[in-house]
Amino acid sequence: MNHFDYVNGELCAEGVPLSRIAAEVGTPVYCYSTATLVHHYRVFAEAFASQKATICYAVKANANLAVIRTLAELGAGADVLSEGELVRALAAGVPADKIVFSGIGKSANEIALALDSGISQINIESEPELEAVNEIAVAKGLRAPIAIRVNPDIDPITHEKITTGMKENKFGIDFQDAPGLYQRAAALPGIEVVGTAVHIGSQLTDLAPFAEAFRLVAELVTELKAKGIAIRRVDLGGGLGIPYRDEVPPTPRAYAEMVEGATKGLDCEIVLEPGRLLVGNAGVLVTRVLYVKQGSSKTFVIVDAAMNDLMRPTLYDAYHEITPVRAPESGKTGKDMVADVVGPVCESGDYFAKDRPLTVLQSDDLLAIRSAGAYGAAMASGYNSRPLVAEVLVKDDAFAVIRPRQTHQEALAQERMPDWLGDAPDAAAMSLASKDVA
Ligand code: LLP
Repeated sequence: MNHFDYVNGELCAEGVPLSRIAAEVGTPVYCYSTATLVHHYRVFAEAFASQKATICYAVKANANLAVIRTLAELGAGADVLSEGELVRALAAGVPADKIVFSGIGKSANEIALALDSGISQINIESEPELEAVNEIAVAKGLRAPIAIRVNPDIDPITHEKITTGMKENKFGIDFQDAPGLYQRAAALPGIEVVGTAVHIGSQLTDLAPFAEAFRLVAELVTELKAKGIAIRRVDLGGGLGIPYRDEVPPTPRAYAEMVEGATKGLDCEIVLEPGRLLVGNAGVLVTRVLYVKQGSSKTFVIVDAAMNDLMRPTLYDAYHEITPVRAPESGKTGKDMVADVVGPVCESGDYFAKDRPLTVLQSDDLLAIRSAGAYGAAMASGYNSRPLVAEVLVKDDAFAVIRPRQTHQEALAQERMPDWLGDAPDAAAMSLASKDVA
């Protein structure tokens, strides 16, 4: 469910026509809907209302401060995996005691910052990382609250690049090694064992792999408790899928019931780390058609967004619905031509759709690439010296730019000329770069 609908033939985000945003902010532009964020959070939170659960939004899905704050105001904590995400979550107003730090390669700086800011849990992914956290905590005279992330070796049945809980994946501690590492952790002076963590993958559309993983985790917790290691928190990660096309993922309620069954009797607080589920369908990428090119075997719709703005189609063969911002004229099906929708970047992998039935398009038409709120802007790059695009948040009839489009001048200002190449970039070109690109 989302709040991007046609009103009087115009695709709107809540009460705001996307064409108005495009006219005022330029394209490409990411546009997020507050009502959709709120709806997704509430549905998920309500599903867990009867359980002692903390929802830690996985900031990696969409790290914009305004998005994080929108969710934090509803009660969300945060799951972060870098110093940058930690700083963002804190800056957005997430209380430190609702932040968990995931990720397999935390640097000493990141561990120190996590400890200094008093976050609730550091998820440990290797023995050397456990030792490093212990050492840094001891030096600070602290005990680091940790969970050990286990790898249950379960196929989550999703794209191989977003599978994280199988033996060949780099994540977590092999299941059979976990009890030994917990014994070690319990003996370290700088470590306070608080929990167990697991995250088997992303965009799961079946409950069975989750259920199997959580069953194993519950067994482990019972075993650890019997050995006197007082696990009080079980972090079940994120991963629940969303409909991009015709998938029918489990509902949050079905997921919550399964979690309740799997963790019954453990007497533990549950931590959940949804990312995509909260933000994925709360965002679209609005792009303008530059040209329609008739090739000898294909038609190409060349748009002004590109793979650097939204990597998912080329990286994961991901399907994103593409809809015209102006509704197709009556009598048209909206699927009157078949084309590849491609961007201006110099790679054949720069596409958003292949052989896609579309409404007949021409230069200047606006398109909305749907379900782009998760892992869209968050994964964007400046490849081909394309400035990072603007992001807009809509609330009812209002919208605000929550990240202005990067200017060429800002991009150039991040670089330095070594003294053997002269003092400064060419002044005339720099003044050209100062012009807003929108
Ligand atoms: N917790 C941990 C430890 C994670 O690694 C992730 C995602 C999440 C939570 C949130 O998972 P979600 O609920 O969003 O599925 N870029 C890829 C997805 C990468 C997911 C990485 N980890 C994509 O665009 O599909």
